[in-house]
Amino acid sequence: TSTPLQDRFGRSVDYLRLSVTDRCDFRCVYCMAEDMTFLPRKQILSLEQLYDIASNFVELGVKKIRLTGGEPLVRNNVMALVERLGKLDKLEQLHLTTNGAQLDKYAGPLKAAGLTGMNISIDSLQPERFKALTRFGELSKVLAGIDAAVATGFQRIKLNAVILKGRNDDEIIDLVDYARHKNVDISFIEEMPLGQISEHDRAKSFISSEQIRDTIHARYPLTTSTETTGGPSRYYRMADSVSRIGFISPHSHNFCHLCNRVRLTVEGRLLLCLGNEHSLNLKEIIEAHPGDDQVLQTAIIKAMDLKPERHHFDLDGEPQIVRFMNTTGG
Ligand code: GTP
Ligand code: 5AD
Ligand code: SF4
Repeated sequence: TSTPLQDRFGRSVDYLRLSVTDRCDFRCVYCMAEDMTFLPRKQILSLEQLYDIASNFVELGVKKIRLTGGEPLVRNNVMALVERLGKLDKLEQLHLTTNGAQLDKYAGPLKAAGLTGMNISIDSLQPERFKALTRFGELSKVLAGIDAAVATGFQRIKLNAVILKGRNDDEIIDLVDYARHKNVDISFIEEMPLGQISEHDRAKSFISSEQIRDTIHARYPLTTSTETTGGPSRYYRMADSVSRIGFISPHSHNFCHLCNRVRLTVEGRLLLCLGNEHSLNLKEIIEAHPGDDQVLQTAIIKAMDLKPERHHFDLDGEPQIVRFMNTTGG
């Protein structure tokens, strides 16, 4: 491809994940500690800075941007950023990963602003359980949000579910049935050890993608699909549905050789890999050289040399990664 963003292992980077806030109105048990504290405002990028960095990535060949968080829709005035990014001609896909709680109000405006797709997290279809897993979430709000997104019509809507042993592993088929009913895709994600959460034992709750796939296969025979969305998901199809079933298996299936993405944290740190600390502070660079796109682009190109070959996650033992998913940009 033509992108100047190439790393040392022959991979091209054409996908930027932009964390627009570390805040969230939920506290999912595997993502955040109950007493999570958030970054002070002066430490985070302004919307202007987020736009400047993102648009320079697009100049460098990035074709897809995903807004993540935390929960992107709790960032003040985030729609102004979506509208500006939506106008970038060279950007082909503008996606959002959201907890869905506010989509009943935002789905229409997001589409009008140029958003092309979204991933919505849903780990349970039982209201009390949903509350226990998210600590603050109202299932009915999220279901209404998913309905609003489906009714609005996006190029792509995908559900995300993290399955935890003993908490929601009896809902795998219910979640698949729900995705089938809504004609959307669903991905099952293996939990990753980002951040230490004292009240949650990751090793005890771990279920592999293989186990989940076997459960689904017994009910709906799955056929492998060679389709890829350029992401870590491996997709399967069912004979009688348009919904695809994806598995994101950072533990049981290494997909790093195909990795096409980098992440920008809301503090302005460019992270070259979810599972490693290799990074470059872009906030410092834009603040030292305001408005100098050349300096910024040169730094971004050079940062690609820092991208490590692969992640190594270990569920037992000490977590190597101290940052939490919400400061990382999922
Ligand atoms: P697309 O690739 O954009 O289709 O979506 P996605 O499924 O990668 O993104 P989403 O925001 O829905 O994230 C789902 C899960 O996949 C999150 O837990 C992410 O952290 C994880 N994930 C996404 N990219 C990577 C990656 O490069 N490495 C690892 N280990 N996990 C990833
Ligand atoms: N491991 C795996 N997935 C996680 N998510 C949040 N924290 C973790 C974790 N530690 C998921 C959310 C959401 C997506 C962006 O990331 O459930 O679907
Ligand atoms: Fe919020 Fe998403 Fe983390 Fe849940 S997984 S606490 S919805 S950022």
